[in-house]
Amino acid sequence: MGVPSFFLSFLVLVLVLLELSVAWDTYPPPLCGPVKANDSDRIEFALNLEFLEAQLFLCAATGKGLDSINKSLAKGGPPSIGCEKANLDDLVYRITEEFAYQEVGHIRAIVDEVGGFPRPLINISRETFAEIFDRAVGYPLKPPFDPYKNSLNFLLTIYLIPYVGLVGYVGAIPNLESKSSRRLVAKLLGVESGQDAVIRALLYERGKEEVYPYKITVEQFTIAISSLFDELATCGIKDEGLRVPLELGAENRTTSNILSADVYSLSYARTETEILRTIYGTGDESKPGGFFPRGANGNIARSLLDQGY
Ligand SMILES: *[C@@H]1O[C@H](CO)[C@@H](O)[C@H](O)[C@H]1NC(C)=O
Ligand SMILES: *[C@@H]1O[C@H](CO)[C@@H](O)[C@H](O)[C@H]1NC(C)=O
Ligand SMILES: *[C@@H]1O[C@H](CO)[C@@H](O)[C@H](O)[C@H]1NC(C)=O
Repeated sequence: MGVPSFFLSFLVLVLVLLELSVAWDTYPPPLCGPVKANDSDRIEFALNLEFLEAQLFLCAATGKGLDSINKSLAKGGPPSIGCEKANLDDLVYRITEEFAYQEVGHIRAIVDEVGGFPRPLINISRETFAEIFDRAVGYPLKPPFDPYKNSLNFLLTIYLIPYVGLVGYVGAIPNLESKSSRRLVAKLLGVESGQDAVIRALLYERGKEEVYPYKITVEQFTIAISSLFDELATCGIKDEGLRVPLELGAENRTTSNILSADVYSLSYARTETEILRTIYGTGDESKPGGFFPRGANGNIARSLLDQGY
């Protein structure tokens, strides 16, 4: 009887090991870790976000998108959906216009360094943002949130945008091979984080204000949007609103959170897959939607998409 029971234990051991390896396989590194890619693919990936920013800021400031500045930069990509001039006061108008031209420069920088690809279809319609805000607060806002209605609404609308670029650049740099790639991305990161800080500072000033006609303050909206993005990205807290519980504040000594940062007050980093899950709004890098109804472009994003997109 000794032999069969030894054999049985062996079988059990093999089964346990098999189970473990299956479990291992269902958590491939790209869930929260970086995808395999060379420098040009990683830098090009950022072009998706720069196109989104350029379209959003240019449209909001001037009523026209990137093609009105330089038609060749889109490399034949389709015009964006929902391009609309926002109703902005002079301060926010001037800032948005400057950011818009900065994004054009960023696109040129990336195209000059690695070549680029056609601009993907981008959806910046009122409805796209209204859906994000509904999901963030957890119920349909009445009336639906209008991103272009006034300066405050627009600042809340772009609150999430340069931040996605910022954490993406922080995530990309350690995975870049060449000095010239790291130099470019560090320079993009510098300006992107500056834009984020400006937007957050303007919102912070009005943090306790209710966003008419909702009974929700500016701070509360930022907290809700940041949690939605954390949820979509699925890799823990990496996006924080303008007010945090003490345990997330700088050195656990303040609930003020004008900048989003980790336990050492260092920037959070996101991988390409995390970013795609947020900008698609689907929580799934293989299922496009949100700002990119047909998916983002470039080797990284295209290789992650389900067949048929
Ligand atoms: C980077 O990888 C892509 C495939 O994903 C390839 O087409 C491209 O030629 C590579 N670029 C360089 C500079 O090696
Ligand atoms: C558009 O951008 C491309 C790429 O940077 C550049 O070569 C071209 O001169 C620009 N065209 C105009 C009209 O600015
Ligand atoms: C743009 O987004 C809105 C909101 O999700 C959606 O209703 C609309 O169909 C989208 N447009 C396209 C062409 O995907």
